[in-house]
Amino acid sequence: MELMDAINKRKANRALDTKTIDNEILVRLAMAASTAPSSMNNQPWRYVTVTDPKVLGDLKETLSPGNYWAKKSPAIVGVVTNNAWGMTLGNREYAPFELGMATMAYQIQAISEGLYVHPIAGFNADEAKKVMHIASEDSLMVLLVLGYPGDDSGLSEKHLASEKSERVRLPLEKFHSFNTFTEEMKPQK
Ligand SMILES: Cc1cc2nc3c(=O)[nH]c(=O)nc-3n(C[C@H](O)[C@H](O)[C@H](O)COP(=O)(O)O)c2cc1C
Repeated sequence: MELMDAINKRKANRALDTKTIDNEILVRLAMAASTAPSSMNNQPWRYVTVTDPKVLGDLKETLSPGNYWAKKSPAIVGVVTNNAWGMTLGNREYAPFELGMATMAYQIQAISEGLYVHPIAGFNADEAKKVMHIASEDSLMVLLVLGYPGDDSGLSEKHLASEKSERVRLPLEKFHSFNTFTEEMKPQK
């Protein structure tokens, strides 16, 4: 798959199949993430890939009701960082930024492997950390819900519409300019 095709194809899809994903593929996704740049090469990203049926079941218990669709996933990944693992310059904490870069590489690789990959923040983080034995001081930023494309029959009407919708994004002038930051680029309150 061409790189731009994979980038464009990424979407927060929800119609997942329950089919198992090979460990070899899951490891390749983590390896893609680890190619990201980081200040001082700190590499402040950690991924806990949950596939064991018991652990996965416990993790799914922590999902917010709106993330019911993720229950079909055969592999959910805890994405972890800690500001102390990265560089801090004044109010600039680099660990979450670097985790985000790594996680985008992860997602693009997942797409090129024919998978859906959907980040979610809707879960009980304290409980999810217990399930994955993540220390309380570390930040479980998102879960990445993985799965091969499946049928959409279990989706709510709203999610079905979103599954079929075009990507919604700000117009270019609201997030990009040449040479100077513009008034238009300030988020509307
Ligand atoms: C940090 C983060 C948290 C998110 N949490 C949820 C979530 O809990 N449930 C959900 O269905 N989607 C969640 N999403 C997906 C976003 O809703 C989705 O990425 C956004 O609407 C843009 O759509 P697109 O990714 O298909 O372009 C989350 C995405 C991010 C990056």
